Amino acid sequence: MLKRKKVTVIGAGHVGATAAQRLAEKEVADVVLVDIEEDMPKGKALDLAEAAPIYAYDSRLSGGAAYEETAGSDIVVITSGLPRKPGMSRDDLLRVNAKIVKEVTEKAAAKSPDAILIVVSNPLDAMTYVAHRVSGFKKERVLGMAGVLDAARFKAFLSMELNVSVENIQTLVLGGHGDSMVPLLRYTTVSGIPVTALISKDRLDEIVQRTRAGGAEIVKLLKTGSAYYAPSAAIIEMVESILKDKNKILPCSALCTGEYKLNDVFIGVPVRLGHAGIAQIYEINLTAEEAAALNVSASTVQDLCKIASEVL
Ligand code: LAC
Repeated sequence: MLKRKKVTVIGAGHVGATAAQRLAEKEVADVVLVDIEEDMPKGKALDLAEAAPIYAYDSRLSGGAAYEETAGSDIVVITSGLPRKPGMSRDDLLRVNAKIVKEVTEKAAAKSPDAILIVVSNPLDAMTYVAHRVSGFKKERVLGMAGVLDAARFKAFLSMELNVSVENIQTLVLGGHGDSMVPLLRYTTVSGIPVTALISKDRLDEIVQRTRAGGAEIVKLLKTGSAYYAPSAAIIEMVESILKDKNKILPCSALCTGEYKLNDVFIGVPVRLGHAGIAQIYEINLTAEEAAALNVSASTVQDLCKIASEVL
C-alpha cells in the first residue's frame, strides 16, 4: 500500500505556515504544524484544510502544541525561534534560539527517530549544529536550509539585472548563512554563459553584496519580521528532493568532516539530496581566495557553536 509521506513543521509563524501551505498545494506530503500554543497552529491547519477543495489537494493538515501527531514523520522542519528585528543581526538571536531549537529537537526526535531534520531557525548553521547534537541523528539526516535561499536571491537579482528568465541562471552560494556567505561567481552562468562575461566586475560586486544582505533588506522593509516566501520555497525544494528521491545538488548546511579541510562544522556546501538525506557532499575546486572566504565563514560559525553549546 502506498504510504503517505508526513512532514512536521515546527513553528507555525510565517515561515512555517507558508511552508505548510506550499507542501499542501504541491501535494508533497501530509503536514503537522506544531507551535508552543495549541490553537494558532490548529487554526492555520484547519484554514489550509478548508482551502483544499478549491486548490484540489488531498494532503492532510493538522496542528497543535503536542508532539503525538508528529510521530513517524519522514521529515521534521524546524522553523522555531525569534525572528530578527530591524538592526538585529542573525547572531544576536543565538542564545535564545539555541534553547528553543534544543527543546523542540528533543521532542520531535523522540517521536520521529528516523526522520530527516531540516533546520531553518537562525543563526542557521549554529542551530543546525544544535539539532545535530541534541538529536544524535547521523550527519546525513541533519541539514540546514540556507544556500538554496541565498542562491535564489542571487539568481533573482541577476535575472532583474539582465532581464532574463530566472530559469536560465545557475549558481552556488557556499558558506554560512550570514554576512560571510560565499557566492561563487566562477560557478555562476546564464544559460551556460559565464556571468562575468555579461555583467561588469563592479556591478557584480554590488549584486553579491545585496545577496549577502538579502535577509536584512526584507527585515528592514517588513519591519515586524523576516522573509518567508523565499525561505519557505527553499524548504520545499529540499523536502521534495528528499521525499521524491530526486537527488538534486543543492547548497545546504551540512556537517563537514574533512571536506574542504573543514572539520566538525556545519556550513553551506553543495550536497546531493535523496531519500536518505545527504547522499553526498561535493568538494568542488576553489581558488585560494574562495577557500579563504569559506574558512573565514567556517570560523565565524564555529565561534557561534561554542556559544550555543553553553546552553546545551
Ligand atoms: C533570511 C533570514 C530568514 O535570510 O535568515 O531571510
